[in-house]
Amino acid sequence: MKLGEPLPEQLKDAGERLDRAELEALQLERLRWTLRHAYDHVELYRRKFDAAGVHPDDCRTLADLARFPFTTKADLREGYPFGMFAVPMDQVRRVHASSGTTGRPTVVGYTEHDLDVWADVVARSIRAAGGRPGHKVHISYGYGLFTGGLGAHYGAERAGCTVIPASGGMTARQVQIIQDFRPEIIMVTPSYMLTLLDEFERQGVDPRSTSLRVGVFGAEPWTEEMRREIEERADLHAVDIYGLSEVMGPGVAQECVDTKDGLTVWEDHFLPEVVDPVTDALLPDGESGELVFTTLTKEALPVVRYRTRDLTRLLPGTARPAFRRIEKITGRCDDMVILRGVNLFPSQIEELVLRTPGLSPHFQLELTRQGRMDAMTVRVEARPDADAAVRAAAADDVRRAVKDGIGVTVGVEVVDPETLERSVGKLKRLRDLRRPQS
Ligand code: DLL
Repeated sequence: MKLGEPLPEQLKDAGERLDRAELEALQLERLRWTLRHAYDHVELYRRKFDAAGVHPDDCRTLADLARFPFTTKADLREGYPFGMFAVPMDQVRRVHASSGTTGRPTVVGYTEHDLDVWADVVARSIRAAGGRPGHKVHISYGYGLFTGGLGAHYGAERAGCTVIPASGGMTARQVQIIQDFRPEIIMVTPSYMLTLLDEFERQGVDPRSTSLRVGVFGAEPWTEEMRREIEERADLHAVDIYGLSEVMGPGVAQECVDTKDGLTVWEDHFLPEVVDPVTDALLPDGESGELVFTTLTKEALPVVRYRTRDLTRLLPGTARPAFRRIEKITGRCDDMVILRGVNLFPSQIEELVLRTPGLSPHFQLELTRQGRMDAMTVRVEARPDADAAVRAAAADDVRRAVKDGIGVTVGVEVVDPETLERSVGKLKRLRDLRRPQS
């Protein structure tokens, strides 16, 4: 098996073979259908379009989309649980829900056709990652209301792979199964991959010696430094998969293994825009802002200009020339910490920690209030072989790098290996202790 090579033309599906002009014609046709479908069948869209003075018939070109109002997570919550569905309930074959840190979960639904499209785009993503029929795919994304497990599952089956539905947790057993079943591909959050790598090492097995050749990592932000760390420790290709429940689940965009240069958006089903998160102004391709999606084929839950809160920019296609890419997502609007006036993302700390000798990739950020000032502590585990002198130097290095690179002073505590909580799914890096828990 050769990996890291472009996908042979005959393995591309019909959508992937479109050229840009054909793609845009298809997008316009599907966009007009989506706007009409949402307006006719979802009360909230009818109300919002009417209030904005726009009608589906006003959409004559792709650029006309900008005249339509945005949709937010709060809008989707308003109809909890099924009020945003655009088809009768007996046509909804499955629901998923995203947990959300506050309040009610957001419930999403899929018709049979939606599930079919979802399997297709995940299968396409797996092929872009280097997966081929006959490969075994170990899936450690959680199965359940979270879209990760089942989304990856049906896509891998659609791609002609053999699925190992491990789900999250029972880490020691996962390591055993990987050794015994010999999968070529693993699909898992990058933070849980680190947990698995530690467990291999704990069991005295070199993770470089496993059958794994590709890791399809997503559901949370991760950096180029993390890619290097995982690729080196596990001797595999680490590629990025993006998605969100409200738009579909995993498989909205996928990084191609032959280029590893950001994620190709499957634009025949999901139309991306980037807007200024503060002014809401539409930004030209290449400029960074908040990613916004309009679904083009979703029946049960069409979303129009959905504000993802994810920060990135749109780039021209490379491995799939007709399809635009998004840059690796560095953070979410709501992940951003404003520390004494300085904006800071957990991913910036991840980069610095992983560049510092003696430090493991396991770290947490803790926000506290000291007097009238906010303070941040970076708590990071030492690598097992780092002695006291290395640890002290590492703490100094990170403190200085944060001060010089980001422009704010933080506390750095280097703690013993295996003392911080491990991820079994999506990792929460930030602990905000500024407000007393009520
Ligand atoms: O996390 C879907 C998914 C599952 C994607 C498995 C990839 C793999 P939600 O639980 O609704 O859905 O969370 C969506 O997770 O808005 C991003 O903030 C974040 N996210 C997802 N993929 C990436 C990624 C799934 N590759 C939210 N890089 C999104 C950075 C990501 N953040």
